[in-house]
Amino acid sequence: MSHRFIEAQQRERIVTEVFPRADDACLQVANEIAALIRNRSAEGKMAVLGLATGSTPVRLYRQLIRMHREEGLSFRNVITFNLDEYYGLPRTHPESYWQFMHKQLFDHIDIPAENVNIPDGMVPRAEVFAWCKGYEDRIRAVGGLDFQILGIGRTGHIGFNEPGSTRESRTRLVTLDSLTRRDAARDFLGDANVPRFAITMGVGTILDARSIVLLAWGEGKASVIAQAVEMPPSDSLPASFLQGHAKVRFMIDQAAASALTRMRHPWLVGAVEWTPFRTRQAVVWLSQKLQKPVLKLLDEDYSEHGMSDLLVEQGPAYGLNIRIFNELQHTISGWPGGKPNADDAQRPERANPFPKRVVIFSPEPSHDVLGMGGTIRRLVEQGHDVTVVYQTSGNLAVPDDEAEMAADLISELSGVFERQEGATGRFARDVRTQLESKTAFEGDSPQIRRLKGLLRRGEARASLQTCGVGKERIRFMDLAFYERGRYRQFNPDDADLASVTGILKDLAPHQIFATGDRDDPSSVTAVCFDLVRRACAALRGEPWFRDCRVWLYRGVETPWGAAEIDMAVPISPRELAQKTQAIFYHKSQRSQTPVDTGLRESWQQAEQHNRGLAAAYDGLGLANYEAIEAFQRWSV
Ligand code: GLP
Repeated sequence: MSHRFIEAQQRERIVTEVFPRADDACLQVANEIAALIRNRSAEGKMAVLGLATGSTPVRLYRQLIRMHREEGLSFRNVITFNLDEYYGLPRTHPESYWQFMHKQLFDHIDIPAENVNIPDGMVPRAEVFAWCKGYEDRIRAVGGLDFQILGIGRTGHIGFNEPGSTRESRTRLVTLDSLTRRDAARDFLGDANVPRFAITMGVGTILDARSIVLLAWGEGKASVIAQAVEMPPSDSLPASFLQGHAKVRFMIDQAAASALTRMRHPWLVGAVEWTPFRTRQAVVWLSQKLQKPVLKLLDEDYSEHGMSDLLVEQGPAYGLNIRIFNELQHTISGWPGGKPNADDAQRPERANPFPKRVVIFSPEPSHDVLGMGGTIRRLVEQGHDVTVVYQTSGNLAVPDDEAEMAADLISELSGVFERQEGATGRFARDVRTQLESKTAFEGDSPQIRRLKGLLRRGEARASLQTCGVGKERIRFMDLAFYERGRYRQFNPDDADLASVTGILKDLAPHQIFATGDRDDPSSVTAVCFDLVRRACAALRGEPWFRDCRVWLYRGVETPWGAAEIDMAVPISPRELAQKTQAIFYHKSQRSQTPVDTGLRESWQQAEQHNRGLAAAYDGLGLANYEAIEAFQRWSV
């Protein structure tokens, strides 16, 4: 370990390993688990694993299953204890952790059923205390946990130890935090259905494990990870109690690491290699911290904020300020497809060829307009040949009552126009019957999913029409991984990749827009982006591809900071209103939650991000626009 490496991590109170991708971390953890199992087996002993649920460990479990199938890894000498279970859910419930663990792992390996321990969500209330004590006794009886896997919730919970849980807490019944319940709402098809209680191992139970690894992916976890790693331990963030453990590691991806000091402002914790990006990041940070435009930063501002070495290398402040100011200024362009017949030396996008063939990948209908509705309109108005490609149908996100209304409408229409019930009428009637007989939490039939997908198509067409994109310019891919999958459990295959590659070959674009890779890898956006990434890698050799630029946009997730942007497209007040209109057409996606919960609708979030970025550019002393949509250049 180099000196610089340690210095950069001096604020970190937990060993934190950052991996380029979640799969890299999972492979390493799976190897460690396999080694433990094999060593124990060679000694004729059992290996005792503590396991977690949620999206996070799914890729680890896939690795373990692969090792079982391909490398002969046997789980016959393994005993497992799961962290938690919703209280009140029977094992048979599709959202129970019992189901989850069996589907994601146990059904695919040779672990003896009697070695699997998962808290029982159906223990009568009066017996819960004794049951929990029994769970602890069972862990102790087998010699304690050798290796505990953890995820982390956005409240900082481990297991279901919500804020307020003490370091000494043991297995018990707990009340779920409202943020945790909101995060689970999509799985349970609505807030109201999410259980209020759970049985969880305590923080103390977890800390008794001999070795602990916490996994986290995606920028949604960045803030809570930074707090757990860098702040003093406190019961307001239970994961911070892991700091006291002798053998704990956080193994996280780049996006989940992005709020650590060593990533956000490394100059505060040690020597920094002043790459162009780091320099820009530091100047923007300083300007924002001091609330001073870039051009007004002084030498002493730099040296008082840990950046005197930057001044030595690239100072004085006057010249450095001007250079970064110009760099930032050059990201601004009202010509996202390039300005024809103009000098493009300082513009983010090249002037030629003109017009450009542009492909916009949208993981689900609405991501496109949320992230770049204003820019889509500009591209069309400026004469480019824009095609929007919806990678998935988005049918999982349509509430049942929308489908009911549509089925009724079709039924009635077919009654008006057909003397005898035809295929359309029958379809609508079938859908209606299926919706009525659907039990709570049951997945949708293929027919219901089809109708829901069609609804989203209609919304997407109407929405894009307001941006000037006609329906002949829209492709609906309905990728199969989505149609056969459910949230957290998507598993794309070669056919999905071939479809994305095929569409790119077919359209041979000069510009591609896609969402980035900072999301949780199990999310629809991340799966879809990964397919684009792999398709681009496969097409790198094609002549047209060498003349193609890929731009990344953000939906309503955390927006990029001003220093991370390569192209900033100004949006006028009128264009912002038109963008909001385009988002409104995605009617089925409006929040189902009553307004008084304070949850913001996605159009409000998009607007806030776009206005916020404009304000940030203004604060840096650039220009004062109403709103800005941002893009990052991506090198394949
Ligand atoms: C649930 C589980 C936790 C898990 C957390 C994060 O609350 N009880 O054990 O760590 O969710 O979930 P995800 O991995 O889906 O982000």
